[in-house]
Amino acid sequence: MCGIVGILGARPVAGTLLETLKRLEYRGYDSAGVATLENGQITRRRAAGKLKNLEACLAAEPLFGHLGIGHTRWATHGRPTAINAHPHQNGKVAVVHNGIIENFKTLRDELRAKGHTFASDTDTEVVAHLVDAAMSDGLAPAEAVAATLPRLKGAFALAFLFEGEDDLMIGAREGAPLVVGFGAGDKTGEFYLGSDALALAPLTDALAYLEEGDYVVLTRHGAKFYDTESRPVARKRVKTPASAFLIDRGNYRHFMDKEIHEQPEVIGRVLAHYLDLSAGTVALPFELPVDPARLPRLTIAACGTAYMAGLIASYWFERIAKLPVEIEVASEFRYREAPMQKGGLMLLISQSGETADTLASLRYAKQQGQKILSVVNVATSTMARESDVAALTLAGPEIGVASTKAFTCQLALLACLALAFGRARGTIDAKEEARLVAELMAVPGLMAEVLHREPKIELLARDLGKARDVLYLGRGTSYPLALEGALKLKEISYIHAEGYAAGELKHGPIALVDSDLPVIVLAPRDRVFEKTLSNVQEVAARNGRIILISDSAGANDLGGEAEIIAMPDMAPEFSAIVYALPVQMIAYHTAVFMGKDADQPRNLAKSVTVE
Ligand code: AGP
Repeated sequence: MCGIVGILGARPVAGTLLETLKRLEYRGYDSAGVATLENGQITRRRAAGKLKNLEACLAAEPLFGHLGIGHTRWATHGRPTAINAHPHQNGKVAVVHNGIIENFKTLRDELRAKGHTFASDTDTEVVAHLVDAAMSDGLAPAEAVAATLPRLKGAFALAFLFEGEDDLMIGAREGAPLVVGFGAGDKTGEFYLGSDALALAPLTDALAYLEEGDYVVLTRHGAKFYDTESRPVARKRVKTPASAFLIDRGNYRHFMDKEIHEQPEVIGRVLAHYLDLSAGTVALPFELPVDPARLPRLTIAACGTAYMAGLIASYWFERIAKLPVEIEVASEFRYREAPMQKGGLMLLISQSGETADTLASLRYAKQQGQKILSVVNVATSTMARESDVAALTLAGPEIGVASTKAFTCQLALLACLALAFGRARGTIDAKEEARLVAELMAVPGLMAEVLHREPKIELLARDLGKARDVLYLGRGTSYPLALEGALKLKEISYIHAEGYAAGELKHGPIALVDSDLPVIVLAPRDRVFEKTLSNVQEVAARNGRIILISDSAGANDLGGEAEIIAMPDMAPEFSAIVYALPVQMIAYHTAVFMGKDADQPRNLAKSVTVE
């Protein structure tokens, strides 16, 4: 999604704006731009494509202003051209925007009727026109912004510059994140705006988050916050833990590669946080917002990979805690008008904590009298702040657009939650808890072992890279993992892939099977193992090309019929966390073999803050 940055400084800011935008690249974008204010005049540089194109523009025609805004754009309205790139300017106003102005057509028609002409196809440009028109009517810049915001429907984070105002930058938010940074030391008196703490990490760790509907007026003398009614409000200054070095790629070729390899370590960190390793029990460091023993059912909503994590967890909550689970993709859940019994628990899962549909589901559930438990990676995110309890996945910043370590950290944490619910509901006794905890504690070591399978997977990926379609099959928790495998392959290699419950094969997809179709089967030795193998035989009987991810039992049974990615033998309950690794490595190496950008796949955004 679009990234925003603004700097109100004491020296030329264009270079720092560009560096900061590089830290927002992970969000996904297809054009970029900056504007600075010099001698009272706004000057812009914009370019389609990657930041190196903008860098070239700035090298050819530098900007020298001490005050500026920058933007990486993920196209929603209008193609990713330089003309549609932000900042947009009209008259005295330049603006950058993350989100969607849903009523932009109505506003644009109204403005056109008054004689306004538009340079771009974007929804954003209407904002510059509205604010400029309000200023032409005699309002001061902050008043003009305040008068414009209530007219905008949709989601937005905005940052503004104004011609003739070299000590003024304004930010606003409604439905998309925006943070103010405070300069310190030799940067005292500098102020920043950013889409997230990560972008501002090299500049400052002192931040204040805008609440929904807030706008902030920044001058070199300070930051003044206002709420939706334009009443001055105080917004707490916090220290962010995100630091500059955390998003270094190190010796890895891609962030995704690095994040795949970090998993044994980060999963260990999650387990150490949510388990008492010496006692061999679950030990949540927070109180649950409901009594699990009295809970009739659990509702889960999430998007994309986080939804797959929720699906896997639904098996655990049902089996371990005997708790009925309803799970839905958040984009559907938010509009279903599902009646919810008061006092129930809603579980939201999100890496970013900003996904628009998941956030809307959270707010819907709140209105329905639900307690909110969120599983999020970004501690300062909107979802974390709006939840009764935010359980952190502790994965560290995830920069690759394709979620890897955040997914397995979600799984590890959800497994701990399922155990905690099971214990509280009396569905597992101390012995069973200790057994399951021991299974979980074995996971980081098993993951480290699986990373050694990489050379084999790399070879396999050369073959998969030539396929047109790929089928993933699994049963039990391996079924959602099959969905995740297909999603991962699609999003970074652009190969069409489908995940299916192995038992569904004969109800349709088996018609696709021929010697050209790779069928990747996830078959840990669990209680449906034999059933999965029968489905594999059905594929083999039709000359299907089987790639079996399984342990020694699978290898023994199907050694002749399938290509095997040999997994270590393990207890079955939490195998999905370990089997996630080959699934991720297959997608990564296939994409790399095909010459695709694994970290920033086309069309995708890391943090999806629009519907
Ligand atoms: C994961 O590989 C995807 N890029 C995507 O499906 C992601 O999981 C989804 O957009 C949800 O994001 P969130 O976890 O930040 O809410």
